[in-house]
Amino acid sequence: MLIRNGTVVTSKDSRPATIRIEGEHIKELGPILKAAAGEQIIDATGMLVFPGGIDVHTHLDMPFGGTTSSDDFETGTKAAAFGGTTTLIDFAIQPKGTRMRDALDTWWKKAQNRACIDYGLHLIVTDLGTAGLDDMDEIVKEGVASFKLFMAYPGVLMVDDATIFQALSRTAKNGALICLHAENGGIIDVIVRRAIAEGKTAPIYHGLTRPVTAEAEAVHRAVAMSEISGAPVYIVHLSSEDALNEVREARDRGVPVFAETCPQYLLLTIDELARPGFEGAKYVFTPPLREKQHPPKLWEGLKHDHLQVVSTDHCPFCFEDQKILGKDDFTKIPNGGPGVENRLQLLFNYGVNEGKLSLNRFVELVSTTPAKLFGLYPRKGEIAPGSDADLVIWDPKAAYTISAKTHHMRVDYSMFEGFQVTGNARTVLSRGEIIVDNGKFLGRTGRGNFLKRVARGGAWQ
Ligand code: URP
Ligand code: ZN
Ligand code: ZN
Repeated sequence: MLIRNGTVVTSKDSRPATIRIEGEHIKELGPILKAAAGEQIIDATGMLVFPGGIDVHTHLDMPFGGTTSSDDFETGTKAAAFGGTTTLIDFAIQPKGTRMRDALDTWWKKAQNRACIDYGLHLIVTDLGTAGLDDMDEIVKEGVASFKLFMAYPGVLMVDDATIFQALSRTAKNGALICLHAENGGIIDVIVRRAIAEGKTAPIYHGLTRPVTAEAEAVHRAVAMSEISGAPVYIVHLSSEDALNEVREARDRGVPVFAETCPQYLLLTIDELARPGFEGAKYVFTPPLREKQHPPKLWEGLKHDHLQVVSTDHCPFCFEDQKILGKDDFTKIPNGGPGVENRLQLLFNYGVNEGKLSLNRFVELVSTTPAKLFGLYPRKGEIAPGSDADLVIWDPKAAYTISAKTHHMRVDYSMFEGFQVTGNARTVLSRGEIIVDNGKFLGRTGRGNFLKRVARGGAWQ
């Protein structure tokens, strides 16, 4: 197959080029490549060609908050593909008191015969138990080269500093990357209980009970633990200027700290939580949306590499029958929001079109750096001979209105309802196969492969 007449954009450069695909891989790139007999040709005139998007933060089919996230591996990966994402890394949860390996088996069963794009897994560690640290080494050998630990959600997912420090000390040796949900769960829990006792039960109190300082403090502690253990750390879903300052200062000192943010923190504010009635519940996720001075700082952070990745934290719950669980008590609203389909559209429109990000930085944030940090590079996240032919043929002029009426995620609302964007995926290829073309899904349920990732992805060496 040849993709011709397009502008190939990588994290390093942009140039008119033809891409030759053989089987599942990119064979060669050149200014002009002559079509061989029988070769399929895709005309990409007027289009940009990106490496497929990589979303390193999704929660598919995940039991949480008394219910289960509404997208499973079939619907979630299909929706991702429509938006130009060809790889995702989902979180397998270790229920307390169980072995880590069991959690992987559970998640492989969820994904097998359902995933439409390639996927990797992180493991959420809730319990080190007796064998835990040795188990971590085994898990890394299985290709699960990253772990997530929670500094929030006491009694559910939160672990103490000793656990985090032990885990970091182990990854300093085995080369895996620890991802941290950085909020001070103990402090937040006290503030939340006070609010409920005062009858403050509406969704807005989700935002008002989780101060930015509780996020910044946790990031500061994470940095200290990274420094003492000598292991890199990756802060997930960073939401505030205060937390960003902690990351920037640490990186300036040479501490190997990395951080992602998500479109919701770049484009929405706490005002959404104050919507009339129970509508604010659609925006209940943690960390919460912040005051309006924070998003511009996050955009600057992306531009200057204080933040390295944009993921989605896609964790959808339907408004009608899931978010409603917290109608009379915001603490019972399942935490999470949908977004896996819209990441590239939003970042392209509000980042590239509005002049905040170059095209190359856009590719770096949504594809190349995620691949490097999480041990997938150069198989994924690159357009070069030998890389998987995961490609997005992007129409930079396509006008699209985001809406729950037309999206493919299995959820009854959109956090970005009515947002008008310019730029959208026209054709999406996964390992050389066209899986989306002009709004039609041409892939096959179950075609996605589990990706064994390598430890010491290399981005911090
Ligand atoms: O509210 C959120 N973010 N739900 C998903 C779980 C997590 O903390 O990432
Ligand atoms: Zn989290
Ligand atoms: Zn998450």
